[in-house]
Amino acid sequence: MQTRSEIRFLLNERQVSLSDVESDSTLLDFLRIDQRLTGTKEGCAEGDCGACTVLVGRLHGGELRYETVNACIRFLASLDGCHVVTIEHLRGPKGALHPVQRAMVDFHGSQCGFCTPGFVMSLYALWMQTPRPSVEQVETTVQGNLCRCTGYEPIVRAAMSVSDYGTPTGDFLEDLRDTTARRLTALRDGVRVDLDTGNSRSILPADAADLAAVLAEVPDATIIAGATDVGLWVTKFLRRFSPAVFIGHLDELKEIVLTEDTLVLGAGVTYSEAQDAISEAFPHLSAFWDRIAGWQVRNMGTVGGNIANGSPIGDTPPVLIALGAEITLRSRDGQRRLPLEDYFVDYGKQDLRPGEFLESIRVPRNAGKLHGAYKISKRRDEDISSACVGFNISVEDGVVTSARIAFGGMAATPKRAFNAEAALVGQPWCEASLQHAASRLPEDFTPITDMRASADYRMKVAQNLFRRFYRDNVSAPVSGRKTA
Ligand SMILES: Cc1cc2nc3c(=O)[nH]c(=O)nc-3n(C[C@H](O)[C@H](O)[C@H](O)COP(=O)(O)OP(=O)(O)OC[C@H]3O[C@@H](n4cnc5c(N)ncnc54)[C@H](O)[C@@H]3O)c2cc1C
Ligand code: FES
Ligand code: FES
Repeated sequence: MQTRSEIRFLLNERQVSLSDVESDSTLLDFLRIDQRLTGTKEGCAEGDCGACTVLVGRLHGGELRYETVNACIRFLASLDGCHVVTIEHLRGPKGALHPVQRAMVDFHGSQCGFCTPGFVMSLYALWMQTPRPSVEQVETTVQGNLCRCTGYEPIVRAAMSVSDYGTPTGDFLEDLRDTTARRLTALRDGVRVDLDTGNSRSILPADAADLAAVLAEVPDATIIAGATDVGLWVTKFLRRFSPAVFIGHLDELKEIVLTEDTLVLGAGVTYSEAQDAISEAFPHLSAFWDRIAGWQVRNMGTVGGNIANGSPIGDTPPVLIALGAEITLRSRDGQRRLPLEDYFVDYGKQDLRPGEFLESIRVPRNAGKLHGAYKISKRRDEDISSACVGFNISVEDGVVTSARIAFGGMAATPKRAFNAEAALVGQPWCEASLQHAASRLPEDFTPITDMRASADYRMKVAQNLFRRFYRDNVSAPVSGRKTA
């Protein structure tokens, strides 16, 4: 296998080649400490505040896409073949302020200024994609940007006015798009990258088959996809890991196939990349998806990572289990498929064998069924669930004929509510049936009290969600007829 022992990427206008990169070096430290590009700030160092927001451009097929990311939890090694754009690079015509900066000044969108570079980068990315955004789009964009002094009103007004100061056509990144795409294409040589500093080893496999080969060679390696979990192990728990196997660049793990009856997501598909297909296949998940983390984290974090981490409070496992999702695991010895619910064995224990990785998630579309997904958290945006549930119910002639109901936050793993499901099947589709099923929930779960919620609260809110689901579907046509 041919290997390369350096990473190469574009930083603003320059090409950078680095071989002395530790597996846990972050992009933010590289920018601020090595490059003295201190316009990008460090606030929380855990992906929450957005002060460290930069753009990362990457080729998807032949298309160059720029996305906001949190530099504090983005590992440097993962940037091979990318274009990193920092606040220092922003400019308007003839050295003037960029339209986003101009709008922020005129609408008083900044006071102490610490958060401002991060907001400007987020609003810049939004303006490139949606020059005339709605208030809702602006709010979704800045979910992951925290401002303590200005208040959001002036920032939202600035965001909505950027196009009065200039259009994305003719913007400096847009002008250079073809040139940049050519420069990035030239960096792609399709070989494995293997960086060994003596302290740590970072591997970027050439493709999925090479990933299987690498994991056969180093089965105890840490797989890193979007690093929105692993990044915090470093910045918050000061953990070190080596070897690290980076997979975020692997196109094969980014495939999305939507057919009439199934959605298949490669494990490396980010939340943002999945958004359109998810909304089309499962309209009930569209708004739910926007409540996962903030925009920067959704641009980095993967659905595969949300499953593979085995967390009992991840948002996608309960809703995917309810839909009857299956996963494909792959190793050098081949593939195996299993129902997603069987992957979660116990707290911190998953059915993932040494040398295996999660390759894809297959979700049946369950046409004609009633679906619901609810997330309960202390804050609406950018917060982890206290409890989360997915419903998937069939009703025929006014009677419930099948039920899959899965919860997160209620047990040591994401888990189905088998007793509640059994209580519902065969019952008329009415609120009393849902309440009866909810009353069986204590037989399914003994939730715990922690900083997010008390055990009591969790149980109560979980039971109430049955009623909420019913009321949201009370007049839904089922099997061609009204059911209530
Ligand atoms: C600010 C912030 C907010 C967040 N909000 C939410 C939220 O609202 N809801 C929520 O559910 N989560 C949230 N998270 C957690 C996190 O974003 C998700 O769990 C995310 O999906 C993890 O994906 P990743 O690609 O970043 O995983 P990584 O951090 O790269 O990896 C996570 C784990 O999965 C393993 N892994 C990753 N991919 C594979 C694979 N293909 N095969 C085998 N193992 C693999 C890694 O080895 C690691 O153990 C948040 C995180 C942050 C930082
Ligand atoms: S420093 Fe807060 S998100 Fe990175
Ligand atoms: S202007 Fe001070 S934190 Fe936003």
